[in-house]
Amino acid sequence: MSSLTPIRFVDYDPKAIAEMTGRVAVMVRPDGSMDQAARSANRMSKGAIARLIDSEGFKKAKAGDVISLGWPAGMQVEALDILVLPRKLTPVEARQAGAKLVKGAAGKRLTIMAGSMNKAADLTLGMALRDYAFDNHKSPKGDKPEGEVVVASKSPAELEAACAPLLAVAEGVHMTRDLVNEPANVLTTTEFARRIEEMKGIGLEVEILEEADLEKLGMRTLLSVGQGSDSPSKVAVMQWKGGAKDAAPLALVGKGVVFDTGGISLKPAAGMEEMTMDMGGAGVVAGAMRALALRKAKANVVGLVGLVENMPSGNATRPGDVVKSMKGDTVEIINTDAEGRLVLCDVLWYAQERFKPAGVIDLATLTGAIIIGLGHENAGVFSNDDDLCNAFLKAAKSEDEGAWRMPLGKAYDEQLKSRIADMKNVGGRPAGSITAAQFLQRFIKDDMPWIHLDIAGVASVSKDTDYAPKGATGWGVMALNRLVADKFEAE
Ligand code: BES
Ligand code: MN
Ligand code: ZN
Repeated sequence: MSSLTPIRFVDYDPKAIAEMTGRVAVMVRPDGSMDQAARSANRMSKGAIARLIDSEGFKKAKAGDVISLGWPAGMQVEALDILVLPRKLTPVEARQAGAKLVKGAAGKRLTIMAGSMNKAADLTLGMALRDYAFDNHKSPKGDKPEGEVVVASKSPAELEAACAPLLAVAEGVHMTRDLVNEPANVLTTTEFARRIEEMKGIGLEVEILEEADLEKLGMRTLLSVGQGSDSPSKVAVMQWKGGAKDAAPLALVGKGVVFDTGGISLKPAAGMEEMTMDMGGAGVVAGAMRALALRKAKANVVGLVGLVENMPSGNATRPGDVVKSMKGDTVEIINTDAEGRLVLCDVLWYAQERFKPAGVIDLATLTGAIIIGLGHENAGVFSNDDDLCNAFLKAAKSEDEGAWRMPLGKAYDEQLKSRIADMKNVGGRPAGSITAAQFLQRFIKDDMPWIHLDIAGVASVSKDTDYAPKGATGWGVMALNRLVADKFEAE
């Protein structure tokens, strides 16, 4: 597993730039005024920064741009990164600037001369988020560069303390990305459960329910998905008890299909390898729980993930099979590729029965249709509760994670009617993401505030984002963490 590179916080000493190696970032305002470190670097480099500021190129630079001067004369550094930043910054702008610097550094040592900049913590978070590579399956090529991120601040101890909870969240994001990027022969249901169990070490209570336990609980719809696979189905339960003893927890529920072949309703070969990310919802739940535990959130949160593999075999569920859910409702399985809802419905029911939560949020790479609707920029948000939903949308916006509300409605239930069972598991092509959400809502108790997040389009993407290289994004960990902080944490 790749882990967060530690960030070093050191005293701000512009003179020390002369001896620094790797890359050094200094700040210049869009009007061309330099801060103390930039002035020092400018002197050392015999006016290189001043010449840059006078150039045509600088006039075209936008706030947040990074202009690199390679091998400046009179210095040891490989490059001076000139960060064009206005004095007033939003947290998101500061994060984006930090991420951009780290992307440019490509694993080399980077020292950022933050001085007394007021959004230095967000800048640091941006660096931590972007400082990620999933390269543990690549053979090492020569010596790895000695990567390091150093933040030079006028009050390093205070800044380090302010960054601690943010870096805890970044660590959760990295865990989610590792899980989502991991191939399915490595991240089996058993390995996923093991990585979750490892989080006992950071103070989470963890239980793993095995197939026999799930059978006893009556989770037949979940088990029907995994029965074609040699990997055993499991449900992992994580509890973080940082809040008041009697406060009902928030429940996070995740779809953890470690690989989705479609089952007997087999998917086409082209692109099937992408279905290693079909455990993305469970990955976000695990990463969010990690973040909450690491920053010792003052809230009660339970995370439950259904871990299964959807494979075709002589023992696999057939189209036309009827199975009974833990709730007692029967489902006619028309298409074994609509498996996520079958996993979630049992875990959602179990979460409500056991924990009597204050609210439930489920996350799932549930439908291809949400990608048709919203692309890779926004997750689909479905909710029966305007207050909780608006709080989540606000949290997602402030964390720069795209989220867009979609409708629910009784009329869509028509599409789920089965001739022989209480419902069928697919509702046809129209509104495919909504009928999937309607299916889930049948397993949400009346008056239970609930959000369903369809993250099929945002969990893993084929282009670099502002905060991550292509592949897993970790979308949702930061928004959920923010929601917990805003809505569920005691003052
Ligand atoms: N895991 C897929 C959804 C998915 C598609 C996630 C693309 C990420 C990228 C899900 O299990 C699935 O197969 N859904 C079907 C549902 C259909 C059979 C009703 C789909 O979207 O085609
Ligand atoms: Mn599927
Ligand atoms: Zn799936």
